[in-house]
Amino acid sequence: MGDQVKLNAGGAEYDYPVLKGSVGPDVIDIRKLYGQTGMFTFDPGFTSTASCESALTYIDGDEGVLLHRGYPIGQLAENSSFMEVSYLLLNGELPSKDELEKFQLTISRHTMLHEQLATFYRGFRRDAHPMAIMCGVVGALSAFYHDSTDISDPEHRKISSHRLIAKMPTIAAMAFKYAVGQPFIYPDNKLSYTGNFLRMTFGVPAEEYEVIPAVEKAMDRIFILHADHEQNASTSTVRLAGSSGANPFACIAAGIACLWGPAHGGANEAALNMLKEIGTPDKIPHYIERAKDKNDPFRLMGFGHRVYKNYDPRATVMQKTVREVFEAMKVTDPLFETALRLEEIALSDPYFVEKKLFPNVDFYSGIILSAIGFPTTMFTVLFALARTVGWVAQWNEMISDPGQKIGRPRQLYTGPTHRDYLPLEQR
Ligand code: CMC
Repeated sequence: MGDQVKLNAGGAEYDYPVLKGSVGPDVIDIRKLYGQTGMFTFDPGFTSTASCESALTYIDGDEGVLLHRGYPIGQLAENSSFMEVSYLLLNGELPSKDELEKFQLTISRHTMLHEQLATFYRGFRRDAHPMAIMCGVVGALSAFYHDSTDISDPEHRKISSHRLIAKMPTIAAMAFKYAVGQPFIYPDNKLSYTGNFLRMTFGVPAEEYEVIPAVEKAMDRIFILHADHEQNASTSTVRLAGSSGANPFACIAAGIACLWGPAHGGANEAALNMLKEIGTPDKIPHYIERAKDKNDPFRLMGFGHRVYKNYDPRATVMQKTVREVFEAMKVTDPLFETALRLEEIALSDPYFVEKKLFPNVDFYSGIILSAIGFPTTMFTVLFALARTVGWVAQWNEMISDPGQKIGRPRQLYTGPTHRDYLPLEQR
């Protein structure tokens, strides 16, 4: 028998098995707890609860480590491509040359959208937030691709996964084009996944669009950095939605809705807006004081993380990429200096040191995306585009697990106990 944890409850003693992962903290298996003791555990925000088994991504927040299928994010960001990382997340191993070519070809064959979907966009106001459009259009995919929504069929699951990964750049670029009033640009499958996205976003029918290789590389790297992040809020949302048997298009739309919030994917937009508000380095101390003030709702956006209590390894790569993009685009942005100075001041302030608040992936990403030409409203859309592969891989892992059950948390009820209805005239 493996390790056990003893619990004394109501005068009785119970043993609960301790499960061991390949790395990381052990987990107490409390699945029998309610049946045996009549008690639930209470863990709002799931700070101490593992909701599933997963072999996709591992994070050691204290050490600032992020591994996909065992490979460190720094090595993937430096040497790999988003398509290769997507293959890795979906299939568990890095592809051979042939496997990668075949995968890229398959994805490229799904880049177009059903033509009727274009009319969906026209139903939105021109000033609609592109994340609102993403929630709507991705949800609508389930009304167009009926032939891949049988989740019990592995082939359907594979096709819908490929469709989602392939169509997301097209959907995202169309959301951008709709906002700026330019014609939608169809995919060009001669280009890479990321080059294609840049052309659909920034190209116009009147002119040839030339992809700048350094920008394509930086964008691809940003996609790699956002590809997956174990059981974060949006991924857990996708899993919870999928646990009821909902189709993958609907599940990913649910993930997009969750990602939109400023505490999650919306933080990249909020971080750049914050840097713009701060403006010059001399204003930083004032904002640092505000972030520390419990009576002020202001927080340093792009700082802090539920899991990382050390520098987010994605932020390290992001900071380096800022310089590469500036060089390739022959631009600079004074906000980068403000961001560097803000980081320096925060990391020497006891409040941030004691609470272990470090820059996260969103702190520098906005500066790069803005240099490439994206408006802030598109930032979270790009996060959603890249995270789709992680959501899809996690969803597939869950559906393929024979032990999978519908997700159904319990509660600590604090409302009124039984009372009888009073007719209106007696109240
Ligand atoms: N600025 C100032 N104080 C902060 C910040 C911040 N950015 N983040 C956390 N704190 C304080 C917080 O007030 C709390 O203090 P106390 O213990 O005195 O009450 C303590 O640090 C712990 O914070 P928490 O809110 O209990 O921690 P959490 O794990 O629930 O929240 C977080 C994590 C990411 C939501 C939070 O750090 C935050 O709101 N950061 C800003 C938003 C952000 O950058 N989000 C992107 C996360 S990375 C990308 C992604 O996952 O989408």
